[in-house]
Amino acid sequence: MEDYKENIIPHAHVISRSDREAKSGQKAKVLWFTGLSGSGKSTLAGSLETYLHNKGFNTYILDGDNIRSGLNNDLDFSEESRKENIRRISEVSKLFVDAGVIVLTAFISPFRSDRQSARDLVGSDDFVEIHVDCPLEVCEERDVKGLYKKAREGKIKHFTGIDSPFEEPEKPDIKVNTALNSLDECLKELIEKIEPKIRL
Ligand code: ADX
Repeated sequence: MEDYKENIIPHAHVISRSDREAKSGQKAKVLWFTGLSGSGKSTLAGSLETYLHNKGFNTYILDGDNIRSGLNNDLDFSEESRKENIRRISEVSKLFVDAGVIVLTAFISPFRSDRQSARDLVGSDDFVEIHVDCPLEVCEERDVKGLYKKAREGKIKHFTGIDSPFEEPEKPDIKVNTALNSLDECLKELIEKIEPKIRL
């Protein structure tokens, strides 16, 4: 059988990532938020993006529920689908980095191997893993979307933290705890650690 991949020859375009970064005065990065549903990933990513945007940085957020409503609307919450979810997001993030953008991703991304694959694909220098830590009891107490209740009632299967695992990052680049610290405190910590990494 013909191997169609042999006949795909990537083209090196004239304008490069460094041309784009020089123009915008920023270093492209992937800021990869990981944590349980309800831990505060999207809220923190949104607040950080607002701060960076107002400072003149070019940013974009890729968020679990949003991406799963479009690009990844064919994927469920089985292990294989979660792996594919993260694989596609990693590829999209890599494109954003090439476009010179600071991309903030907010996905549970529960499996260490998938987060490692994302880091390997994007390149470790361009990848910042941020663990949004929050005990399951607190996320469940918040239950912003009412999904933990449904999961406890058996109405949702494979719910992370209930009947599907979350593998905690062993050595995240940054860790914030949204149960012990306020949103503003977590945001301040993120800004202090991230801003020096993204200025050209
Ligand atoms: S991931 O595990 O594949 O990384 P992702 O971040 O894209 O998950 O989507 C998580 C969001 O989907 C949750 O915040 C929640 O709103 C919703 N969701 C629906 N079903 C599940 C489930 N079984 N487990 C976790 N989240 C779910």
